[in-house]
Amino acid sequence: MRKKIVAGNWKMNKTLAEAQALTAEVLGMVADEVTNDAVIILCTPFPFLLTVKNQLGTNRIAVGAQNCSEHDSGAYTGEVSAAMLKSMNIPYVILGHSERRQYFGEDGQLLAKKVDAALRHGLTPIFCCGEPLDVREKNQHIELVKKQVEEALFHLDAAAIQKIVIAYEPVWAIGTGKTATTAQAQEMHAVIRQQLAAKYGHTVAQEISILYGGSVKPDNAKELFACADVDGGLVGGASLKSRDFVEIIKGVG
Ligand code: PGA
Repeated sequence: MRKKIVAGNWKMNKTLAEAQALTAEVLGMVADEVTNDAVIILCTPFPFLLTVKNQLGTNRIAVGAQNCSEHDSGAYTGEVSAAMLKSMNIPYVILGHSERRQYFGEDGQLLAKKVDAALRHGLTPIFCCGEPLDVREKNQHIELVKKQVEEALFHLDAAAIQKIVIAYEPVWAIGTGKTATTAQAQEMHAVIRQQLAAKYGHTVAQEISILYGGSVKPDNAKELFACADVDGGLVGGASLKSRDFVEIIKGVG
């Protein structure tokens, strides 16, 4: 059975001391209050990964990176490889976030290589897809998201695709306070799962966690996570506040 996952995406926020304080708060509240068995991931900025990982110790909460290079090593100043993350035992990496696509020009071809690099080193990619507002207004959102999934993931075989977590994040909902309705989220998640089923078969498609992202908050998490094909969330802004993040985790059930 596929896993329920709540991943916090801290983006480029927090100082080291603030990161440690947030981690300590989340740790305490999760220990005291969370009774479900959701996988919980903190995707911190690169410089904090090891500190946060050590702070979490053997706790159930895992850490993740927010990006990695498509290359394993070499003269790529400023880049971080999947091999480096693996050497630090970082299990997860977000790939293809809309901010990476928009500000850093990441496209499907590059993301396919990043996915390969992450898998080559045993990391679990959290692969993001999602349409901008103008595409939804033109009613081309399904077509675009299917293309994003196909371009970056469909070169994988059935064994490899099952190692991927997908996050559907409509760009118009990210950081805007505008959440997709449950109907909009469920529609797209079902489309992605059907697409996976058509390519890899029903059993494989049922094993892949598909997260929703885009202004997930304590007051909408529960109903979004209750949708049949929504297996948890990728949470930006609300993951920077321990109370909000923990309430969202509790929303998984
Ligand atoms: P948000 O961000 O929750 O602040 O909308 C989500 C994301 O970008 O992953």
